[in-house]
Amino acid sequence: MTRSHWTPPPERGGRATPAGLYDALLGGEFNLPADRELAAKALEVIPAMAKMAKTSRAFLRRAVRHFANEGFDQFLDLGSGIPATGNVHEIAQAHRPDARVVYVDIHPVAVMTGQQILRDNPDAVAILGDARNPDAVLADEELNRVVDLNRPVVLLAVALLHYLTDDDRPYEAMARLRERLAPGSVLVLAHGARESYAESQTQKIQTAFRESEAPKPVVRSYDEVLGFFGDFQLIDPGLVWLPQWRPELGPDDPDWFVSDPVQSGSLAGAAQKL
Ligand SMILES: C[S@@+](CC[C@H](N)C(=O)[O-])C[C@H]1O[C@@H](n2cnc3c(N)ncnc32)[C@H](O)[C@@H]1O
Repeated sequence: MTRSHWTPPPERGGRATPAGLYDALLGGEFNLPADRELAAKALEVIPAMAKMAKTSRAFLRRAVRHFANEGFDQFLDLGSGIPATGNVHEIAQAHRPDARVVYVDIHPVAVMTGQQILRDNPDAVAILGDARNPDAVLADEELNRVVDLNRPVVLLAVALLHYLTDDDRPYEAMARLRERLAPGSVLVLAHGARESYAESQTQKIQTAFRESEAPKPVVRSYDEVLGFFGDFQLIDPGLVWLPQWRPELGPDDPDWFVSDPVQSGSLAGAAQKL
């Protein structure tokens, strides 16, 4: 689907959103002027931000490729965003034609666009859901039609949790999700890292987001990000900078930040429920 076939849903209200901002940074088709304005402001403060977003997306693709190769056939993409090239279902189903994928996002534009793209794919679905309310997400009828929560699932929370402030109780939400997943399930995370940004940059980004009405992103330290894995066992190479997570699985991925990976802006890793 191209932009000429896309009508922004009325719920959108013309405001910038994290989903639209990310799409604008990725060079996608499904963003509004307000998203592009916010992206321009963010790029003034952090000129590498579009590269950071693309590097994060490349990590997501490598992780899906890895776990599909390992035999996982169920993927739950929480905070999935507006579908972009190299979507989870495209990668997973290329490796495993029987793979089943559920996309969950809080924003209607991401979900509606996903639903249009997935119209002819009975094994993938996009649903509206709030990561802060994991029981409601996991109770969704469509989700349960597509994935069997009694079997292992790969739960992707890539570039999501830095949109949840501590007041949103993200650790409680993730603990509940870990508890509900079947043994053998995997949690894949990427999260904006405090170590990557100067305090002045964080403040300027927060100000830009406040003006735009989009939720402010929160960067967290290495140990804080690690805390989201709880008692899951880290999978090699552990929690690392985006470009350091199994680069051999993405030979065509951009090599930005390889020589200075802290500048990639996010920590990434995967861990398994034993
Ligand atoms: C930066 S995008 C990441 C998209 C995708 N995971 C990726 O890595 O390419 C963050 C997404 O999280 C969604 N999001 C933010 N808060 C959320 C919440 N509480 N529940 C579900 N999705 C949320 C936003 O709407 C946005 O689409």
